[in-house]
Parts: sequence; structure tokens; C-alpha cells
Amino acid sequence: MAKTKQVFFCQECGFESAKWMGQCPGCKAWNTFVEERVVTGTRKSAAKAASSVPASILEVTTGKEIRIGTGMKELDRVLGGGIVKGSLVLIGGDPGIGKSTILLQVCRRLTADGHKVLYVSGEESMQQIKMRAERLGEFQRDMYLHCETDMNVIENAIEQVGPEVVVIDSVQTMALEEVSSAAGSVSQVREVTNRLMQLAKQKNVAIFLVGHVTKEGTVAGPRTLEHMVDTVLYFEGERSSVYRILRGVKNRFGATNEIGVFEMKNNGLSEVMNPSEVMLEGRPVDASGSTVVCSMEGTRPLLIEIQALVAQTNFQMPRRTTVGIDFNRVNLLMAVLEKRAGIHLGSCDAYVNLTGGIRLSEPAIDLGIVLALVSSYRNRPVDEHTIIFGEVGLTGEVRGVGMAEQRAKEAAKLGFTTCILPASNAANISTIHGMRLIGVSNVKEAIDLI
Ligand code: TYD
Ligand code: MG
Repeated sequence: MAKTKQVFFCQECGFESAKWMGQCPGCKAWNTFVEERVVTGTRKSAAKAASSVPASILEVTTGKEIRIGTGMKELDRVLGGGIVKGSLVLIGGDPGIGKSTILLQVCRRLTADGHKVLYVSGEESMQQIKMRAERLGEFQRDMYLHCETDMNVIENAIEQVGPEVVVIDSVQTMALEEVSSAAGSVSQVREVTNRLMQLAKQKNVAIFLVGHVTKEGTVAGPRTLEHMVDTVLYFEGERSSVYRILRGVKNRFGATNEIGVFEMKNNGLSEVMNPSEVMLEGRPVDASGSTVVCSMEGTRPLLIEIQALVAQTNFQMPRRTTVGIDFNRVNLLMAVLEKRAGIHLGSCDAYVNLTGGIRLSEPAIDLGIVLALVSSYRNRPVDEHTIIFGEVGLTGEVRGVGMAEQRAKEAAKLGFTTCILPASNAANISTIHGMRLIGVSNVKEAIDLI
């Protein structure tokens, strides 16, 4: 028998509790608990019990993994080589960053290749979608639109149309009748995703699910869904800049942390094949506080400029801000500089930015941050043809990083002539044409170079 019970959910992270709480023990957010009714019962499991039996792994046949190319190389790479049939892919990101646009473009390419696609929108009317589609180019017959928010109706539509790929835009607008709470609430979003997962596996269709990320608690954050779906892609980027980065944060069918770079134009998103070049465009020449680092994003080396500004503070407490880099990491590196290299930054404001609206978290950029800080502090520019990478430890040592040769080669390709890298890496790299390799084993050695 199905029963309803009342529980409280954190609208940020989906933490479930029997009573209301002021602060969420899961994500430490305040005032995010909302009461919801959920239906509990044995309906589903009873139906399932009859059909599922254990089998030996040797008896399981996989067949060939079928991938559908999206026609966009940048997206295919993030997906691990194309769309896997029967997979559920979540695309998250701030409102207005381009989720609907990229999916509409994917639909266009797929239908052009003869695949049948169903685009379900709970946010826009058919006319609005058509208007947007007209900006992107011509569409084929096999692209079906459906404006609907009721999951049962959508299920029927999938049955009727029989598409290979379905887009659900967005999960927060969809609702199941059986769940009494409002669309966008944690239990609704969870149940809707559950149902879509079942649909994807049963009918062997690939489903793209759009999820908005909002800071305020009104809409359930898709973070609660991350563990339910096969693949999670996040759109990053400043809305003011035209570049958008699509990052794979989870992928059951491929490597994670791959990125795809796109540029928003007036006919949709176009792929950026040479992101390093684009990210370094318009770099200041002969300016202090600017260094170029190389970070491995998945399988691809990405060159990017780090800018630091260090100035005497006018405040009681020095100000420190970062854009695109972990704030605590920068504080840690400044403490290392203070203690291990005798550079006194205690009374200085420091601002550290990554250009291009991208976020990097690889420790290999540490040395680049350190040298940018020192360069700004001493007001001495770093040679613009120098590429820097290496992880910095708490004793000031520079540790080796993975794939050093690939990084140096990418830099050489883009015209860099000097590479400051960890000594342990330098020892393992044979010569690279046109590139001077300088191995350093601690931050002091690196600082002495500039
Ligand atoms: P959209 O895809 O609607 O974002 P989301 O679905 O993630 O909320 O975002 C579209 C934004 O991009 C909107 O601000 C308008 C802009 N845009 C372009 O610049 N060029 C285009 O060709 C299209 C379709 C949209
Ligand atoms: Mg949208």
C-alpha cells in the first residue's frame, strides 16, 4: 500500500530530515528546509521483483557500445566520444548560459544525420523555440517539439514518436502527478529523474536533462541529481564573456574533467578548436604580475594567463580576492612565500585572476600563481614567452606533475621558448625543439629566475 508521509528537504543539497532544521547538516546552508509530502510504498519494487534475476557475469552480453556523434567535436569529447544510447545526461548551469541553445543545436545536427529527436520544453512555447531555432539554421522534419510538463504525457509522447534522443528542458519544470509537492521541489525533481532514468534504460533512448543551478533555495539544485544520472556536464563561464566552457564532472562512459570550449555568437554556440590561443589573446606585453600556466583539462593541455596584483594595503585587514582559482589555495601559496622565500606579503592586498571566465583547480598552476604574485610585488615582468607549471608544497618545494612533456610541447607549439617546470619532470623530458627547459626544485630557485 502506498502511504504519504511528511519530510523536510534541504532545497540546496537534498538532505532529508524528519523535522525542520535551521541549518542543513549536509551543506551547512541556512533556512533551506522545506516540507514536502512523499509517497512511500512497495508498488515499484513488487513489480520489479518478478522480472529481475541474478546472472553470472559471463552470461551477460554487452553488444557493441553504440555511440551517436553529435557533430560537435567539443561536445563529443566531453561525452567520451558521442552520445551513448540509453544514457541519461544532465546539463547544469546558470540560467541564460546557453543550455537550451546547445541542445537545440545538437538536435539540429542529429536530425540532419537522420536521427529522430524529441525536444520537450516546460519553459518556452513552441513559437519561442521555433524563433530560437531559426537563428540556428534549418531544421528537418524528424525534429519533434513538445511543450509539456506532465511526465505521464511525456512518457506517452516518447512512446508515440519513438525518438533516439530526447531533450527535457528543464527538469525543474517537470512534474509527476503522483508526487504532491510542487514542480522544482526536491522530491519532484528526484522522482522525475528516477522515471526518466527508467525510461532511458527501458526504451534505450538517450535523454538529455537540463538543470538550472540557482543559489537561492526556490528551485532544487541539480546537485541532488548528480549521483542518479550517468553523465553530468556543467556549463561554466561569465555571462558577460562570450566564451562558455562545458565540463564533464561525472561520466560513466568516459573520462571526467574533459572540457569543451564554445563561443556564443548570434547564430548559436560555435566550437573553439584552439582554446589556448583564444585564452591568451590580447595578453598584455611586458606587464608585471602576468604569467602563463599550463593546466591539463582531461586529456588536453590548456594554456592560460594568470594575473596578480599585489599592492600595499590601505585597510586594517589586507584584501584578497580571486577569480577562477580557489581562494584558500592562493592564501596558502602566499603563506608559503612569506615563510619559505622571505617575501613579506602580510601587509599587501592581493588580487589573483584567471582570464577568460574559466575555473581551474589543478595544483600544477601553483608555481604560476606564485611567480605572478612575486612579479607583481617586485614590479618586474616575467618574459612573455615563458610557460610555467609545477605544484608547490608547504615547505616551498616544487613537486612534479603528470604529463609534463605534453604540456611543454603544447607551449612550444604556441611559440613559447622557455619552460619553468619541476626539476623532477625536467630530468625525464628529452629535448623539445625550440624550448629551453629550466627545472626548479623549490620556489626560491624559481623566483631567482625572474
Ligand atoms: P539559453 O540557451 O536560453 O540559456 P539557458 O537555456 O541555459 O537558460 O541562453 C541563451 C542566451 O544566449 C541568451 O542570453 C541569448 C543568447 N543567444 C545568443 O547570443 N545567440 C544565439 O544564437 C542564441 C540562440 C542565444
Ligand atoms: Mg533554457
